[in-house]
Amino acid sequence: MSTTNYIGQATSRVDGPAKVSGAATYSAEVHLPNLAYGYVVSSPIARGKITKIHADEVLALPGVIQVFSHENVPSVAWLDKKHQDQVAPGGSPFRALQSPEIQFSQQPVAMVMAESFELARYAASLLRIEYEQEAHETNLETQRAKGYEPGKGKTGYQPPPPPRGNPDKAWEQAAHRMEAEYVHGTQHHNPMELFSTTVDWHGEGKITAYDKTQGVFNVKNYLVGVFGLNKDDVRVVNHFVGGGFGSGLRPQYSVYLAVLAALELRRPVRLTLTRAQMFSFGHRPQPLQYVKLGTNPDGSLAALQHHVLHETSHFEEYTENIVTWSGMLYQCDNVKLGYQVAPLDVFTPLDMRAPGAASGSIALEIAMDEMAYEAGIDPLELRLRSYAERDQNQDKPFSSKKLRDCYHQGAAKFGWEKRTMAPGSMREGNMLVGWGVGGGVWDATQKKSAAKASITADGKLTVLSGSGENGAGTYTIMTQIAAETLGLPLEAVTYQLGDTDQPEAPLQGGSWTAASVGTAVQSVCQDLAGKILKLAQKQADSPLQDAKFEDVEFLNGQIRLRADHSQSVVIRDVLQSSGEAKIEADGSTTPNMPKQSQYSLHSHNVVFVEVKVDEDLGTVHVTRVVNAIAAGRILNQKTARSQVLGSVVWGIGMALMEETVIDHKFGRYMNHNFAEYHVPVNADIRDIDVIFVDEEDDIVNPLGVKGIGEVGMLGVTAAVANAIYHATGKRVRDLPITIDKLL
Ligand code: MOS
Repeated sequence: MSTTNYIGQATSRVDGPAKVSGAATYSAEVHLPNLAYGYVVSSPIARGKITKIHADEVLALPGVIQVFSHENVPSVAWLDKKHQDQVAPGGSPFRALQSPEIQFSQQPVAMVMAESFELARYAASLLRIEYEQEAHETNLETQRAKGYEPGKGKTGYQPPPPPRGNPDKAWEQAAHRMEAEYVHGTQHHNPMELFSTTVDWHGEGKITAYDKTQGVFNVKNYLVGVFGLNKDDVRVVNHFVGGGFGSGLRPQYSVYLAVLAALELRRPVRLTLTRAQMFSFGHRPQPLQYVKLGTNPDGSLAALQHHVLHETSHFEEYTENIVTWSGMLYQCDNVKLGYQVAPLDVFTPLDMRAPGAASGSIALEIAMDEMAYEAGIDPLELRLRSYAERDQNQDKPFSSKKLRDCYHQGAAKFGWEKRTMAPGSMREGNMLVGWGVGGGVWDATQKKSAAKASITADGKLTVLSGSGENGAGTYTIMTQIAAETLGLPLEAVTYQLGDTDQPEAPLQGGSWTAASVGTAVQSVCQDLAGKILKLAQKQADSPLQDAKFEDVEFLNGQIRLRADHSQSVVIRDVLQSSGEAKIEADGSTTPNMPKQSQYSLHSHNVVFVEVKVDEDLGTVHVTRVVNAIAAGRILNQKTARSQVLGSVVWGIGMALMEETVIDHKFGRYMNHNFAEYHVPVNADIRDIDVIFVDEEDDIVNPLGVKGIGEVGMLGVTAAVANAIYHATGKRVRDLPITIDKLL
């Protein structure tokens, strides 16, 4: 007999066949008749203003429809000047083509519309624009003195907790001490799929936007606000995303420009950015981080200080949580955390996978390694000696925290006990072998989400919730939850997402989709199950006549008594004999705040890394990684593992390769292409092992899931850097660790 216990199983992606066969449609692949094509022209200067646009010259080309710029963009846009997207930082969001002012290099300054993409691109290449250049500043190093604490109440900035204990004195008096500054390069998200929007124009002010985004509702609300459209006239659709990583959290200028063109030209429009333009709308900021640690004689932490300065733009105040985690990952009574930003002439930074924590864990976890060597204690043991049993930032217990299990299981799998402490002490021929450890902590978040479920007389279930699917496995896990809740085969369930005509779900980010949308899907499927049970009980001689909902289970297409499995009905028979063509349930779920607010809700991980460094050439190979994660219940062992593999690959890239380099003379990201922005490829990646430790948690949400998209990245980069130190004795604090830094 087949089982219908799907939650937790290693289930292949239900959307896999559509993706590999090309049936999955991305935003640039929606084919509409009479499309006009846009091409964006980007500013070559970082600051100044446009003095002249020679649009006439390209408008003369047959097939060129229009050149949009600040000179002719209508004032219907931005009716509500204050309107911002849901994840906008404080300040004034960048408004494309609204002013001659240039605020950052690669700012969109014009959009050429033509009857074909090729013609639009050609015309854009001919468009002459004159500028008056002004001095720009893009170097954070020179702006240290301009750093200030963000906030002042209205920017969404969440300051780190105030200092506790006496961090300065405790550091002075510590038995062992370290202090150091860490920095890593700016990063751009670089999803494979370019940002693209195809807009269908249905008549005056009525549109459907097929947009590359992580949140269709966020985009819809934004478009309704900035163009002053009716809510009912705007639909936003996104069924598939070719990588997001945070780049699609905010509506980008591409969707604004595409909709603007469609409304003005009164016809369908497609706008796709170039790869170079993918470096023009947000990035992981480059942080300058300062860490001071001190230990007691037994190696437990006596003092911890972590300060960060990173850039923001001149028009918005971007912040992310970089240092706060440092006050809760380890037990320490004397803590001081500091946060500053300084404005530069760049686009506003943007959340990128594990925003803040990915950066913060680099500094803290390399510092912990340095501390271990100062104190002469094994780096894993050092962490165990300051194991936090309680979240000291919030002074609350954790809802669950199996990080100790991660430490033990991860170390056992990796073989950590065979490590010798001294740098350079483990070699294989010409290769220096190094073993490093790192880890981190991430939020477990549940957001309000709505869903709708309907089942037809043939036993086919459809579940709708307008969330996103970045490639995380959302289609699959929601299908599993629905199938298990109603005891139906996976093939009988269709889960649909990414459409503002569906019940509202939060944008896909923060690792909260499984917990948020999953809870809503489970809840509406339970409601539907209750309705089916009632129908079953209406039947003559029903064996379930007096059963309460808790007394029955839905399994293998049947409803049966838990106490007596022989007493059952077939769900399809119930539906068919009920005479109802379709039964529906909908609703929304919200976190149980009274219960949740008493606890600290977090996932944790630890990563063990082996590197082999060629003594003569300085080349680094990451030969083994074990990532042990405590993230509550795992809904799908296969898609969850895949999430973590991606995280580890990114962490390795962050340690060894990834960096967007600004030429400060031009104020411009110079390596804005895949040839020069280096990310790991298959040949760079060897063994990656993923362990999910058992962690039960009935506080975070009814499913007990904490989310897996981001926690797996934490500590990877630091563990690589620590392993390189162990191999070579070279402590590199300026990442990525390229060959020149090891020679
Ligand atoms: Mo993630 S940076 O919340 O898409």
